[in-house]
Amino acid sequence: MKTLCLYYTRTNTTKEVMENIAGILDADIAEYTDGRDRSGVKGYLGACFATVKNTISKVHIKGDINLKSYDRVLIGMPVWVEGPCAIGRALIRKYRKKMPTEVYYVVTHMGDKHDYMDKIKAMDELLGRPSAGQVSIRTKDNDYIRESTKFAKTLV
Ligand SMILES: Cc1cc2nc3c(=O)[nH]c(=O)nc-3n(C[C@H](O)[C@H](O)[C@H](O)COP(=O)(O)O)c2cc1C
Repeated sequence: MKTLCLYYTRTNTTKEVMENIAGILDADIAEYTDGRDRSGVKGYLGACFATVKNTISKVHIKGDINLKSYDRVLIGMPVWVEGPCAIGRALIRKYRKKMPTEVYYVVTHMGDKHDYMDKIKAMDELLGRPSAGQVSIRTKDNDYIRESTKFAKTLV
């Protein structure tokens, strides 16, 4: 099964998670971005603002990727302001018609209060159909690589 792992990352955690999953599934991997520098405090505040105001519309996948050539896509995205980040949601909106039948969401987050599963599943409205699976992985004080390995093994 030909698999593509996509990720957005600001501080490389989601990248690490998706690289681990891609290694286990022997998948291709690519980064998506809105092209904005979101490093440092300024970048953090800009990300909060963009999320709350819903100003992110431009997003692209880096490299020469033909989504239609894959059987499944796993989309890695961090939580920003209590929900999957606006860049990930913009990606789904933009590419939903080109996405293969099987789409999975891999969402990383820091806090231990919620697993954000309701909001993660709500992204199916953007996709226009049910996703094939979802996982929510806490990255702070947690072995997130082990959790992502456990999830990836369910897809081998
Ligand atoms: C703007 C912003 C808002 C965030 N909001 C939340 C939040 O509401 N809940 C949470 O658990 N983590 C939140 N986080 C933390 C990230 O989801 C978490 O650290 C994630 O693993 C970062 O992934 P990355 O290193 O790939 O960017 C936020 C991070 C940023 C930058």
